[in-house]
Amino acid sequence: MARRLVGKVWARAEFVLWSLRNPGRPFKDFYADSIACAFANRKQHASLGPNLKPGSARRSKGTFDWLLKQGVQPHDVVVDYGCGTLRIGAYFIQYLDADCYVGMDIDDRILSVGRSLLPRALIESKRPTLEVISPQSIDCIVARAPKWVFSKGVVQHIPPDDLHDYFLNISRLVHAGATGFFRTRTAPVAKRISTKTWVHGVGQLKAIALCYGIALRRVDAQRSIFKLTPADRGDSVPNFKSVKESYAKMSVNP
Ligand SMILES: C[S@@+](CC[C@H](N)C(=O)[O-])C[C@H]1O[C@@H](n2cnc3c(N)ncnc32)[C@H](O)[C@@H]1O
Repeated sequence: MARRLVGKVWARAEFVLWSLRNPGRPFKDFYADSIACAFANRKQHASLGPNLKPGSARRSKGTFDWLLKQGVQPHDVVVDYGCGTLRIGAYFIQYLDADCYVGMDIDDRILSVGRSLLPRALIESKRPTLEVISPQSIDCIVARAPKWVFSKGVVQHIPPDDLHDYFLNISRLVHAGATGFFRTRTAPVAKRISTKTWVHGVGQLKAIALCYGIALRRVDAQRSIFKLTPADRGDSVPNFKSVKESYAKMSVNP
């Protein structure tokens, strides 16, 4: 009980202390700084960097195989949104034709490590696009008419206040014709479980996605994978007030 309380307090304090040193910078910069620090210290990580925890590579191959089964073809343009250091991206770069893989993430330090882990010959032959997420880079990718966008293990690292940007960007790709998938844990009641991790509520994710004309449907319960498609008239309009209220209670800034 006491340990859990200390953990909760620390989860908030870490970001608050960072914010005092970095006034005005968003949570995603805090996330990127702490990952860059973990790289510098050669820390083992579950999904990022050269030093992955045991089992991580096997799980990423499982995700790649699952996505292929949805019908991805070698000539399709595929966007890996929150690609990290290309744990899954490397499989796609090998599988797809040249100029078909697009990896997007919040910070160039993360993308650079991913690039450095790829064999040079693969980069030269497949020419993957690696972009920092911004309105301009989303415009450029929309113009390439992506067929698929997937986002693995990303949503849980986005604080409630920032989910709108996430769904805005993903919705632009989906409305441009891409079929979307994301994978994340969810809970009946949203909660913050560590400094950089939330478990969001399905109802809340659905409601925010609908603000951008996107319908969410869980297509694999075991893996907690959701499919994103353009919403149609039958998709009910969410109760924005209750969504806002429930997330306001757990704003990233305590
Ligand atoms: C747990 S890692 C998963 C990386 C990769 N998808 C994988 O499965 O190997 C989470 C990734 O989400 C990215 N991320 C964090 N906040 C984000 C945001 N607001 N928008 C997009 N990506 C974000 C992080 O930089 C990080 O690369």
